[in-house]
Amino acid sequence: MEISIVGSGYVGTTVAACFADLGHDVVNIDIDAEIVKTINDGDAPIHEEGLPELVAEHAGPSGTGRLHATTDYAAVLDTDVTFLCLPTPQNDDGSIDLSIMEAGATQLGETLAQKGDWHTVVVKSTVVPGTTEETITPILEAESGTTAGEAFGVGMNPEFLREGTAVDDFLNPDKVVLGADDDRALATMHDVFDPLIKAADAPVVETDTRTAEMIKYANNAFLASKISLINDLGNICKEFGIDAYEVADAISLDDRIGEQFLRSGVGWGGSCFPKDTHAIISAAEEQDYDPTVLKSAVELNDRQPHRLLDLLDGHVDVADERVAVLGLAFKPGTDDVRNSRAIPVIDGLRKRGADVVAYDPVATANMREHFPDIEYADSAAAALKRAQGAVVVTDWDEFAALDAEFDAMADPVVVDGRRIVERREGLTYEGLTW
Ligand code: UDX
Repeated sequence: MEISIVGSGYVGTTVAACFADLGHDVVNIDIDAEIVKTINDGDAPIHEEGLPELVAEHAGPSGTGRLHATTDYAAVLDTDVTFLCLPTPQNDDGSIDLSIMEAGATQLGETLAQKGDWHTVVVKSTVVPGTTEETITPILEAESGTTAGEAFGVGMNPEFLREGTAVDDFLNPDKVVLGADDDRALATMHDVFDPLIKAADAPVVETDTRTAEMIKYANNAFLASKISLINDLGNICKEFGIDAYEVADAISLDDRIGEQFLRSGVGWGGSCFPKDTHAIISAAEEQDYDPTVLKSAVELNDRQPHRLLDLLDGHVDVADERVAVLGLAFKPGTDDVRNSRAIPVIDGLRKRGADVVAYDPVATANMREHFPDIEYADSAAAALKRAQGAVVVTDWDEFAALDAEFDAMADPVVVDGRRIVERREGLTYEGLTW
C-alpha cells in the first residue's frame, strides 16, 4: 500500500518505519523541516530501541527507499491511506486538547479536495470517544467538499506503544484494533495490517470508531488504576510492616490478576497514563457520569510522592540539608520526564527548604527545564557525597549496584520509591511499600 503518516513523534515515526518494514511505501509528513531532514538522511529523530536501524534501512541513502519524509501535505495525493498521528495534549482542566488534530484534519481535508479517487483516513492519535465521528469526519467533509462513505472512508486504529519499546510493541502486538465506520475503510485497514497480523499471529478486533477510541482509554486507565490499586494495598502493607512485593508475588499467581503492573512504589508518570486518565475522566463528567474509581486512582497516584517524603521526614529534618534525588525519568530506559514522579518529589523537598542535588543517567537536560536552579550531579556517587538523605524515584538498574557510595553520605538515610536499592548494614533504609 501507499501510506501517508501525518506526525513524526514517537508514534508517527515508529509506525512509519514499521509500515515500511512490512513492505508498504510510506511518506511521513511533519511541519518540522529538521525532523523531515533527519528521516531523509536515514536517521531516527527520536530515541526508540530498534528505530534507527529501521529508518536507516528504509529511508537512508542506501536504503530500500520505502520510507521518506516531507513537510508537504500534497504527498497525501500519491497515497491510498493517511494515518493521523498528531499530539492530543491535556488542557489545564485535564480535558483533551484537539486543536492540533483539528488543524491536521483541516489541512488533510483541503488536500483531499484535490484527490479524485477514494482515500481512507485513519485516526491513530488517542482521542476521546466520538471524536472521529463527530469532530474529525465533519472537518474532512467540510474542507474536501465531499461526503464520508462516498469519496473517502474513515477508520480509527489506536496504538498501544510503550516509550522505550515502541518498535517491539508495534511488531509484536497483543491485539490489532480496527475501528471503521464503513466497509471500504475496514478493507483498506486490513490491506495495511494483514502482513503484521499474519507475521505476529495477532488477534484482530473489528469494531466501530467510537468503540476503538474507548478501547484505548480503557486499556490505559485500567493499567494506571491497577498500579494505583497495588499502591493502595502497598500503603496498607507498609502500615502493617508487611512487604507489598511478597504479597504481590503471591497474588500474581492468580491468573486473573497476572504478574505485570504490580510493582508498587512512587507511582505512574509519562506522557500517556496521566493525560489519558484525566481525559477520559473529563469526558465522562461531560456525560454527567462521575468516574469515582478512576478519580481515586489519580488521587492515590498524586499521594505517593508525598508518602515518600513523609518517610524521609521521619528520619531527617531536611531543611538546609543536602538531599540526593536518584532518578528523574518517568521510568527507566527513557530521558522523558513528562509527569515524572521526581517532579513532585523535588518540589516537596524544595518546599521543605532542602538543598537538592539530582542525578539521572540520561534525563538531566529535560529535568533542568523544570528546575534550572538545583544542582545536578554527573553520577549517583557524586549526588550521594555529603548528602544528609537520599530518595530513589526511578528504577534504573545502576542504582541496584550502589553500595559503598552510601558510605560517602553525611547521614546514610535512603528512602526507596522503586524497590531497586539493596538494603545493607550501616544504611537506614525505608521502602515506600515494603
Ligand atoms: C503506557 C502504556 O503501557 C502503553 O500501552 C500506552 O500506549 C502508553 O502509555 P508508557 O507510558 O510508555 O506506556 O510507560 P509504562 O511502561 O506503561 O509505565 C507507565 C508508568 O507506570 C511509569 O511511570 C512506570 O514507572 C509506572 N509503573 C509501571 C509502575 O509504577 N508500576 C508498574 O508495575 C509498572
